[in-house]
Formats: sequence, structure tokens, C-alpha cells
Amino acid sequence: MGVGPGDPELITVAAQRAIRSAQVMAYPVADLGREGMAARIAAPWLQPEQQRLPLLFPMVEAAAPRRQAWHAAADAVAACVQQGQAVVFLCEGDSSTYASASYLLLALQQRHPHCPVRMLPGITAAAAAAAEASSQGMPWPLALQQERLLIQPTPDGPELLRPLLLNCRSSGQPLVLLKLGRRWLWVRPLLEELGLLESAIYGERVGWPQQRLCPAVQVPAAECPYFSLLLLRTSWPEVLP
Ligand SMILES: C[S@@+](CC[C@H](N)C(=O)[O-])C[C@H]1O[C@@H](n2cnc3c(N)ncnc32)[C@H](O)[C@@H]1O
Repeated sequence: MGVGPGDPELITVAAQRAIRSAQVMAYPVADLGREGMAARIAAPWLQPEQQRLPLLFPMVEAAAPRRQAWHAAADAVAACVQQGQAVVFLCEGDSSTYASASYLLLALQQRHPHCPVRMLPGITAAAAAAAEASSQGMPWPLALQQERLLIQPTPDGPELLRPLLLNCRSSGQPLVLLKLGRRWLWVRPLLEELGLLESAIYGERVGWPQQRLCPAVQVPAAECPYFSLLLLRTSWPEVLP
């Protein structure tokens, strides 16, 4: 199920109800022993007597350790379910959008096809950032009318991002770049070169007490946290209020 992003209050009634009735709280962690982001967000809703089940989702490029971890996560969840326990898997943002929950879902389907699953959606970081911008006097509809919103991870180099930005500039397609992080170092100069810096909003740790949300022009080129994104809009539909 999706929680947050960031703000514990951004949770559906269905998700709250599912948490209340579960015996096991599972959540992804990048390293065993480290607290997971989803668990931290959901903390106000968890009960001390509920069993914690941190599941390793390593942030590595290699396929084998990731597959191994997804299989192990599915096996651990299925084992709890087989013992009659209701398990909730907490996931940051929406559970179907670039989400650890999706890998768990696919691994469960493959390895434990009879394990019952209910998927509860959440709020994407893109939607949360747009809403925050709008709340701060920077009205930011993610998509209007016939626009084709593009949400994707920031490509790995300027040569890959440049054509994407040129297309957004000429077509007016609104864009959300996730996984901005350290790439901001070279993304900012590229936006500036293409005359797009003034058309973007930078969002960092949206929904957290340390949230930073501002015009991208105010953010110097530097490495940014993993939980950062960029909203880009180069034009508006003709017919507006
Ligand atoms: C693996 S994706 C998770 C997406 C998430 N499931 C969703 O629905 O948005 C991680 C990326 O989402 C973005 N993100 C997630 N939470 C965020 C937050 N609270 N503030 C800013 N960006 C966030 C960042 O770009 C981060 O690198």
C-alpha cells in the first residue's frame, strides 16, 4: 500500500484500515538495520505489538542481487500469510509507480500465485509536489486538457536528457523528472542552456519537515538528495480561466 510521500497524513482511509487490522508490517529497506522511508512515514499509524518485517531491496544496478532480494521478500511475506497473518507492505508514494511494491507483487505472483493480494494505491511524489507548489502560490496543474504528461526518472547523462527537454520545449509537454539527486549538478546547466530553468520547480523531501520546494532557478548546481524531483512546464493551453 502507498503511504506519504513524506507526510504521514497523506494516507487513504483504506490504507489506515488495512494497517489497523494487520499483524505484520513489512517495508522495504536499502540495508538491513537501516530504517525504511515508508516505515518512517507510516510510524504514527503503527501499533507497537505489530510485528516488523524489514525486507531488503538493495539499491544496486546488478540484476542478480535484486532478483534474489525480490524472491526472498516474496517468500517472507508468503510465509507469514500461510501462517494466517495479515501482512501490510508499506511503500513510499503510489504503490504502482516506480515502486518496490510492484516487484513484490510480481515476485509473489510468480512464486506464490495462490497468495491473496490486495493493492492499495497512494499519492505519487509528482502529485504531492504539484499540490505543494500550488499551495505555495505557484499554481501547478500537472496536466490539463489534451496535454500528455511525462513522468520518468532523470536520464543518466546530458546527452540523453537534451532530446527530451528539446521535445518538451517544442511540444509544450509537461514533464516530471524523478531521481534527480546528484544529477542536478549537470541538469541545472543544461536547463539554463536551453532556456528552461525559469520554467521548472524543484522539490526536495516533499511532505517532510525539511521540505524544500521552490523555483529551480533558486537551487545552485550541486548534488541533491535522492528524494528530489523536477516539475517542468513550458507552455499552457490556450483556453484557461
Ligand atoms: C523509486 S521512486 C518512488 C516513486 C513513488 N512510488 C511515487 O509514487 O512517486 C523515487 C523517486 O521519487 C521521487 N520522490 C519520492 N518521494 C519524494 C519526496 N517526498 N520528495 C521529492 N521526491 C520524491 C524522487 O525523485 C525519488 O528519487
